[in-house]
Amino acid sequence: MGRLVAISNRIPLGDNPSGGLVVALDDALRSSGGLWVGFSGETAEAPADDLTFHDGAAFQRASFDLTPEDHDTYYLGYSNSVLWPVCHGRADLMRILPEYLDGYRRVNERIARMLVPHLRPGDRIWVQDYQLFPLAQELRRLGVTAPIGHFLHIPFPGPTDCATLPNPAELFDWLSHYDLVGFQAQRDLDNFAASARSLSDLEQLSDNRFRVAERDMRAGVFPIGIDAQAFLAEAEGAREEDRMRSLTGAQIMIGVDRLDYSKGIPQRFRAFQALLEGDPSLTEKVMLLQIAPPTRESVDAYQQIREETEHLAGRINGQFATVNWTPIRFIHRPIPRNELAGLYRQARIGLVTPLADGMNLVAKEYVAAQDPADPGVLILSRFAGAAEAMTEALIINPHDPGELAQAMHQAIAMPLDERRSRHAALLRGVVEQDVGWWSKTYLDALA
Ligand code: ADP
Ligand code: G6P
Repeated sequence: MGRLVAISNRIPLGDNPSGGLVVALDDALRSSGGLWVGFSGETAEAPADDLTFHDGAAFQRASFDLTPEDHDTYYLGYSNSVLWPVCHGRADLMRILPEYLDGYRRVNERIARMLVPHLRPGDRIWVQDYQLFPLAQELRRLGVTAPIGHFLHIPFPGPTDCATLPNPAELFDWLSHYDLVGFQAQRDLDNFAASARSLSDLEQLSDNRFRVAERDMRAGVFPIGIDAQAFLAEAEGAREEDRMRSLTGAQIMIGVDRLDYSKGIPQRFRAFQALLEGDPSLTEKVMLLQIAPPTRESVDAYQQIREETEHLAGRINGQFATVNWTPIRFIHRPIPRNELAGLYRQARIGLVTPLADGMNLVAKEYVAAQDPADPGVLILSRFAGAAEAMTEALIINPHDPGELAQAMHQAIAMPLDERRSRHAALLRGVVEQDVGWWSKTYLDALA
């Protein structure tokens, strides 16, 4: 079988990457080998028009730089100020400038040009995520005939949200050049079909086959997973000294998310506030550990969510803290994965409460990290793709602080038997549909 060539905007060249895409793709390529191409993270006024190859991984890696203008228009602009908010149901946060779409098209065209000389006969090309929708069209223009697949890590918007895009029909045109488009959840495939019907010329031939201008395209649902065995081992091996000290007595609720407005962190804090207000006996008995590394900080909406989150944590701590206890600990940095695994294991409750999310790998990591003999409880938003399969979690509406506070209460009081049976069922799913299963199922379908 030919080589796997994966292309994503983000490629991890340093330590401790956060973000579901890089974590999953790193795991997938480690087992299959191949080539991974992505943006180096560096900008330069006149970047080289070729890929730079890097050593030191189980697979080949190659990166490219962007000009500052391309970074502003393609990455911060069209990708993260137009597509990201629209796909996460926040069209109100969208910023439409004409140069954004131009930059987005230009960068995708340039990536295609740089990639083509490095392709070999037999390669399968796997394009990742919303930053690179037009890439297949550009590669086809340059004569590439290899199979090209796309996987969307984030939600696909329904017709109402899709219609807020500056040029919605173009999105479907871009996607129609792929042989296979993969989504995280059935909800995304349904949204794709409904939006295509109302906003494009795509003709739906069957549940998962579409046609436009003599081109056939398939779509399917391929829920992404984690490297469960590795994570399990990481959590078991987490060293005692890496765990939280000075917290004896307080039950830990943990949240781990990039500081993104889609993650529902303020809503989570307000629910925690409601919990403490409603039950003073929990004073010094529970704490919320929120680990939220910075992300896309030059975009206004991200500066606002940071201010809101910090302000709220400060207010809640001011309201409830005692000399011995700070109810919310907020860490605004990435932390090493082995430490993260140990913290998940130590936490009695995993809080995964996004307002919208493609899958959410933290939900799966939390489950994998638990001690099966005395596992914690996962509280999961119905708006995470993960909720389609992880039905034994406590499924909540993150917008309703009362409902979320009630679920926190239920989790704190949950008897050991019930915790064990819910965890065993969740773990089975996480282990069966792991990252190897995800990439294999997708690549088999592409073949
Ligand atoms: P997203 O892809 O939107 O960031 P996911 O939950 O799917 O959301 O994936 C996030 C990934 O980033 C997980 O693998 C998680 O462990 C990792 N991560 C999140 N925050 C941190 C952090 N502070 N330090 C290290 N890794 C993190
Ligand atoms: C999500 C997206 C990825 C992205 C990651 C981190 O997981 O689906 O495409 O890489 O967030 O965001 P960033 O903008 O830092 O790459």
